[in-house]
Amino acid sequence: MAGYRIWQLLFAVWAVSGSGVEVSAQFVGYYRTKDCGIAEAIVTQAVTQAFNQDPSVAPALIRLLFHDCFVEGCDASILLDPSPENPNVEKRSGPNLSVRGYEVIDAAKTQLEKTCPLTVSCADIVALAARDAIVLTGGRHFEMPTGRLDGMVSSTASADANLVSTESSARELTQKFLAQGLGQDEMITLSGAHTIGRTTCAQVTPRLYNFPGSPNGVDPTLDFDYALHLKQVCPQGGNPNSVVQLDPVSPNTFDNMYYTNGVTGRVLFASDIALFADHQTEFASNLNSENAELWQIKFSNALIHMASNKIKFGRPDEEGEIRQNCRLTNARFAATANMSRSAHNHGA
Ligand code: HEM
Repeated sequence: MAGYRIWQLLFAVWAVSGSGVEVSAQFVGYYRTKDCGIAEAIVTQAVTQAFNQDPSVAPALIRLLFHDCFVEGCDASILLDPSPENPNVEKRSGPNLSVRGYEVIDAAKTQLEKTCPLTVSCADIVALAARDAIVLTGGRHFEMPTGRLDGMVSSTASADANLVSTESSARELTQKFLAQGLGQDEMITLSGAHTIGRTTCAQVTPRLYNFPGSPNGVDPTLDFDYALHLKQVCPQGGNPNSVVQLDPVSPNTFDNMYYTNGVTGRVLFASDIALFADHQTEFASNLNSENAELWQIKFSNALIHMASNKIKFGRPDEEGEIRQNCRLTNARFAATANMSRSAHNHGA
C-alpha cells in the first residue's frame, strides 16, 4: 500500500511541476488544479439528490465502482453503451446485468459539462460517487484521489473473466482480487460492502429449497431463523425478482454488521459464507465484526487502493480521454452527432 502511494505522489509532483508537458495524474484535489474546484461538490449534489429520492442508489453506486475497477481498471468502461462497432460491452456481462446507478453518473456529468466542459472524467465521477454513497449511508468520510482518464475499451468477455461469482471459494476470491493487485485482507475488508444493498430471490432460493445433501432442503450454513425469514420473503415458486436485503439487521447503514451477520450465518451468498468458513479467511473476517472503527478505516483504504487500480493517466488520447457523454467514447459521440446533423439536414 505504502509503495503505491509514494509512487503516486512522486508522479503527481512530477506531473504538476517538473514535467513541462500537460499530463494528468491521480491525487486528492486534482480538479482544483484544473480550474474546476467545484467538481467534487457537483458530484456530491447529484448523488445526494438521487439518494434523497431513492436511498437504494447508494449501494448501487458502490458496486458500480467495484465492477468498473475489476475490468480494464477504474476507467468508466462499465458505463459504455453497446454500439454498432462494439455491441459486446461490459454492461452485457452476466454479473453486470443487475448493476444500477448509471443515471446518477449521467446527472453529475451533465451538470459538470455545463460548469467545466471536457474536464472531469466519468471514471472520477464513479469513484467520487461511491465515496459519497458511503458517507450518505453513515460510513466514514475520506478523500478520494482523482485524475483518472476514461477508457475506450469495453468487453463482455473481459468482464466475464474478471468479475467474481457468488459460487467462488475463499481461495478463488483471493486469486481474483490478487489478480487486481488487492490482498486477501483487502478482499475480506471490501466484502463488507454487503452491509448495504440488495439482491433478488433468484440468487437466494437455491439455498432455501432442494439444497443438495440437506435433509430439510435448506443450506445448513444458514441460520435457522434467518432461513425461515428468507422463506417468507422468497416463497417457493414466488417472484424471482422480489428484493432481498443483503443485511437483515441494518440494511441501509454502512456499518460492520456484515461480519456479525457472517459469524451468525446471516449472509446470503455462498461466497460470503466462504469467508467465515475457510480457515485462511475466518480469523480476519471475525476480527472485522469486533472492531467497527478499524474496519471503516481499513475499508476506505482498501477502496482507495481498488480505485487506483490500473488507472489511465497520461496525455488524454494516448491511453484514455475525458468523455463528453459517459455512455459513449468521444469518437462514438462525434459519430452520433454527425449522424443526427445529417438526418436533420436531410429532413430540412
Ligand atoms: C467478494 C466477492 C463478491 C461477490 C461474489 C459479490 C456478488 C454480489 C452479488 C451477486 C450481488 C447482488 C446483485 C443483485 O442481485 O442485484 C452483490 C451486491 C452488492 N455488492 Fe457484491 N460481491 C462481491 C464483492 C463486493 C465488493 C468488493 C463490493 C464493494 C466494494 C461489493 C458491493 C456490493 C453492493 C454494495 C451490493 C448491493 C448492490 C445493490 O443494492 O444494487 N461487492 N454482490
